[in-house]
Amino acid sequence: MGPSLLSKTLQGITVTSLASVGAFFVWTKHCQFTPDSQFTPATEPLFQSTWYKKFNPNRNPTTHDECVRRLPLHKIRPELLEDARNGGTKLVEAFSQGVWGGLGFKIQRLYMEKKYRNDTTTAHQLWTPQQLKTSTYDVGTEVTDHFVVLDKTPTSILFRCGDSPLHNPDTPRPSDGLFGLTAKADFDKGFAEFRLKSIFFQGEGEAQEKTQGPMPSTLVWLHQLYTKFFMESAMRYVKQ
Ligand SMILES: *[C@@H]1O[C@H](CO)[C@@H](O)[C@H](O)[C@H]1NC(C)=O
Repeated sequence: MGPSLLSKTLQGITVTSLASVGAFFVWTKHCQFTPDSQFTPATEPLFQSTWYKKFNPNRNPTTHDECVRRLPLHKIRPELLEDARNGGTKLVEAFSQGVWGGLGFKIQRLYMEKKYRNDTTTAHQLWTPQQLKTSTYDVGTEVTDHFVVLDKTPTSILFRCGDSPLHNPDTPRPSDGLFGLTAKADFDKGFAEFRLKSIFFQGEGEAQEKTQGPMPSTLVWLHQLYTKFFMESAMRYVKQ
């Protein structure tokens, strides 16, 4: 089990003991996972991206999912919508600020800070809630020695995850992954849609396991709880 999987397990356990399980499910009920049949290498553009091809050259099996949350436009901060109407990046930035600067990431952030923050190699990365809540997450931004922005558009921010951005910045790693955030306002339909997409894989070498992704099912379950937690705590930052 790699360090990222282990820390994910710890987070999941913390999540379930923090919130009573029932309250947790009520709180996160608006966040839906896309059925497996609809988030596949054939349907999801992330799998066609140059990033995916570069970091998973042997097309090792993946553990992947997508969580979708809709929010009525009247609940969203008007300045974010105004900016989105003009093709700006503020809505997805606010979403990202909420994901990293919110309660959902707090435990993992504190854990990583203790382990990986220092005054030299990782000093340039984002660590404090203040930094995480104000960053515009431009390409190259590094978060808590565990995530780096690969790509940014007016409606999406793509992170690489799975290991330190300081390790193999341009080549595959044993533990690798893509984590995508998207935020799109639909002014005709009256809601905005937020998505969290995760794809984990062994990037370097050929995986022993040819059909199953790198995460066992218990971890997948915890990862999905955690994703819902991320999503709901991020919503606070886009709501008015
Ligand atoms: C700072 O932390 C990073 C990440 O753990 C590590 O790779 C690096 O060696 C550390 N630098 C120093 C000077 O301790």
